[in-house]
Amino acid sequence: MITNLRGRDLISDLDFSKEEVETVLDMAWDLKRKRAVGEPHPYLRDKVLGMLFFFSSTRTRCSFEAGMAQLGGHGAFIDSKTTQIAHGDTAVEIGEILGRYFDGIAIRHCDWGDGNAYINGVAKASRAPVLNMQCELFHPFQCLADLMTIMEKKGRDLRRKKIVVSWAYASSYLKPMSVPISLILQMPRFGMDVTLSYPPEFKLPDAYVEEAKALARKSGSAFEVVHDMTEGFEDADVVYAKSWGPLLTTTDPIEGKRIQDSYKSWITDAAKMAHAKPDAIYMHPLPADRDIEVTSEVMDGPNSVVFDQAENRLHAQKGVMAMTMW
Ligand code: CP
Repeated sequence: MITNLRGRDLISDLDFSKEEVETVLDMAWDLKRKRAVGEPHPYLRDKVLGMLFFFSSTRTRCSFEAGMAQLGGHGAFIDSKTTQIAHGDTAVEIGEILGRYFDGIAIRHCDWGDGNAYINGVAKASRAPVLNMQCELFHPFQCLADLMTIMEKKGRDLRRKKIVVSWAYASSYLKPMSVPISLILQMPRFGMDVTLSYPPEFKLPDAYVEEAKALARKSGSAFEVVHDMTEGFEDADVVYAKSWGPLLTTTDPIEGKRIQDSYKSWITDAAKMAHAKPDAIYMHPLPADRDIEVTSEVMDGPNSVVFDQAENRLHAQKGVMAMTMW
């Protein structure tokens, strides 16, 4: 167990080593058990997390805020639009100043080409740890909750279990590609076989795909890319199918939507799930476009773990905050 995470940032999934991820998950399970039996665990009494949002949220905002309260501290919600960021406060000002007020700064900034750089800029200037609540490239706390959920459902030893990380059609908006990038980086470290499936226009950045392949080689697992949703689901233990925008093809939202609308058949339904193992779990970070991205039959069906997955956001985040912010 690693015991010196105090003061550490978590911005990219690989900022924590595999052993450090195992440590925060151990902590998360301990905190989950304590909450289940009503045992107080105020490890962050009098501590405050500043939560700066440039983009909307349900789960992330609520779980970080609840987590800080359960740890004996406070989560301060800050909407970027009601700050002076639009009038000149830079990442340096935010890091320097909020880092003096708060014991941790959590940020969600998903703008393509800006979000990750902004969060790293704040971290460079901040004396308090900086936590990435999602940028355009990574969603590390979602991925920790996903890993925790997969281990709960499939056992702690995930070697050679197959996860398909698949694109799915959505009509609501062009979603960030941070969830699939985080998954393909994190899961090979735990020995999972990863199949990445998407229509050609929805490729992920080559650098991360190559890094994921190298991590898979190191752990003796498989990594493959396919361009057919049903083929990707074949014999999967974990089906993780969600939409993301064709951002490496176009950043124009109208052109992106036109491309996206030509793949309406990429919906997770019972027929496609039948190609996965009978006990395969269905995962989605939510929000999902119901009956467009995934049928209600699958999302509400016996193989779906989406609500346990959403719950684990709370526990995984508390595990990281308890170990980094004291
Ligand atoms: N999964 C996730 O990050 O949900 P929110 O966008 O609601 O925070």
